[in-house]
Amino acid sequence: KPLVVAIDGPSGSGKSSVSREVARRLRAAYLDTGAMYRAVTLHCMTTGVDLTDSPAVESAARTIDLDISTSPDQESVLVAGSDVTAAIREPAVSSAVSAVATTMGARAELIRRQQALIAGSGHRIVAEGRDITTVVAPDAQVRILLTATEEARLRRRGDQLGGTQSEEQLKRQVTERDAKDSTVVDFQQAADGVVTLDSSELDLDQTVTAVLEIVRA
Ligand code: CDP
Repeated sequence: KPLVVAIDGPSGSGKSSVSREVARRLRAAYLDTGAMYRAVTLHCMTTGVDLTDSPAVESAARTIDLDISTSPDQESVLVAGSDVTAAIREPAVSSAVSAVATTMGARAELIRRQQALIAGSGHRIVAEGRDITTVVAPDAQVRILLTATEEARLRRRGDQLGGTQSEEQLKRQVTERDAKDSTVVDFQQAADGVVTLDSSELDLDQTVTAVLEIVRA
């Protein structure tokens, strides 16, 4: 039966791994909306679209041939049929993605696509990002803001990148991107009716359990 679980949070809060596992346990679909912002960013970079040219970025978001898997067991992002699943995680994309996220016309287009994907799942899906609880699916049955202290978020992102980055580099990447993103979406504070879950002291499994408890409440 229909069940939309909306999860927002900053980078390093663990939203992607947690949301994917929650989706598996609920036998629901899974949508990583950040991957869509990343795919548009990479597409602009590879087709020579100037990321500071808002109308051009908006047009790229409107016309991109983007196919994202909503299976929690298959991570796959295709642009014009070519597999960009790994490429969208490159540091160059992470540094540039805020340009797309702060282009309101591009957001509107991606939000529309995200809502279509949620409908396409038969409204049985775990969707995660920055504005899912507030804009994409404000009517979701379950709405969670997943937070963690800055220290915990930097540690997780560092582990995810294989411990190859200095503390300074990580801080620049994570904290500065969050600061830029915050200018368009407020994901630091829970909106009305959104449950805040602090994962700083929880591991992946404990966080998944906590989310499932909220779902079942
Ligand atoms: O790498 P991390 O998990 O922190 O981020 P992500 O979920 O892959 O999202 C990448 C970027 O997409 C974010 O930094 C935001 O700029 C943007 N984004 C957004 O604006 N709205 C969303 N619903 C999801 C992502």
